[in-house]
Amino acid sequence: MQLPSTMQAIQVEGDHLVLRPAPMPVCGTGAVLIRVHAAGVNRADLLQRRGKYPPPADASPVLGMEVAGEVVAVGAQADRWKLGDRVCALLGGGGYATYAVAPAAHCLPVPQGYGWAQAAALPEAIITVYANLFDQTGLKAGDCVLIHGGASGIGTAAIQMLKLTGVDSIVTVGRDEKMQACRDLGARAVINYNTQDFVEAVRAETGGQGVQAVLDMVGGDYVNRNLACLGKGGLHVSIATQRGRVAEVDIGLVMRGQLILTGSTLRARGRVEKARLVALVERDIWPDIIKKHYKPLISNVFDINQADEAHKMMESSAHIGKIILEVG
Ligand SMILES: NC(=O)c1ccc[n+]([C@@H]2O[C@H](COP(=O)([O-])OP(=O)(O)OC[C@H]3O[C@@H](n4cnc5c(N)ncnc54)[C@H](OP(=O)(O)O)[C@@H]3O)[C@@H](O)[C@H]2O)c1
Repeated sequence: MQLPSTMQAIQVEGDHLVLRPAPMPVCGTGAVLIRVHAAGVNRADLLQRRGKYPPPADASPVLGMEVAGEVVAVGAQADRWKLGDRVCALLGGGGYATYAVAPAAHCLPVPQGYGWAQAAALPEAIITVYANLFDQTGLKAGDCVLIHGGASGIGTAAIQMLKLTGVDSIVTVGRDEKMQACRDLGARAVINYNTQDFVEAVRAETGGQGVQAVLDMVGGDYVNRNLACLGKGGLHVSIATQRGRVAEVDIGLVMRGQLILTGSTLRARGRVEKARLVALVERDIWPDIIKKHYKPLISNVFDINQADEAHKMMESSAHIGKIILEVG
């Protein structure tokens, strides 16, 4: 196949996202070139466009951390994939474009029957949830996890993934209209944090025992309140700081509860570490995706020319599930 010498990619121009001609990305050793058909929108993209979340040094500066598309070139040592394969991929950047390069080991096969938008909704949310709640956390069937942002891309993935392993979730949302969607995905209880105190609600729901883990994307003053939701030996996992990076914590709660506080950011993990997580996700989660026991919840699909509108929707937090850009 003759590849074009240039492509189209979203550029940040002032307050706008605009599709412009851009150089073709180079497919190096261990990588594949993907003709992008759909790209996932992630909260971090909103930060990156404002210069607050720079991509890793070796990644494209173009927005976009996940795509689905077909393989159109294969680099040396990337022979798991062949031309025409349908893949979805985790990227350091470069997803809002007509072509993107991904390490071969960060790609997963698009399950049969999946459209491009559905496939693009998978990598970032599933790998993040796996890394923070499945990988060496000790969570087991019968446990219960508190998830903030229950209707977010991450939250809607976490509810389903936990349920498939017999772990319950209690989730928070900011609007009543998000509650039923979370219940439908399998959440045991849903709390509107604007009308209920989530600490009281979690203690009541668990008969005073607390949950075994909290997946926190809020930070700030939530952290100490989250600790009050944890049972003995509970795990607090931070993945974002939407209400602030600094938290005042009652160390007494940590000591009495023998709590563990940790956190991570997927994008900053090295290539080998990401490849390890992708391989574990393919082993442990992909079989459920193939059998359609897990279904990505998609809120809206926008044309790539409407990337601005897609970002406005995410900014408003009105969405339930993933927002996707369709790329031709
Ligand atoms: N560390 C990592 O590796 C990693 C990887 C991926 C994503 N993340 C982070 O995880 C979060 C979810 O990502 P996403 O792409 O799925 O974004 P998203 O769909 O936009 O989700 C963000 C959620 O946060 C909730 N929220 C916003 N402000 C809040 C507040 N002050 N208090 C409580 N909830 C609030 C929003 O809805 P409601 O207020 O209605 O609940 C929304 O559901 C983002 O913060 C993202 O940066 C981290």
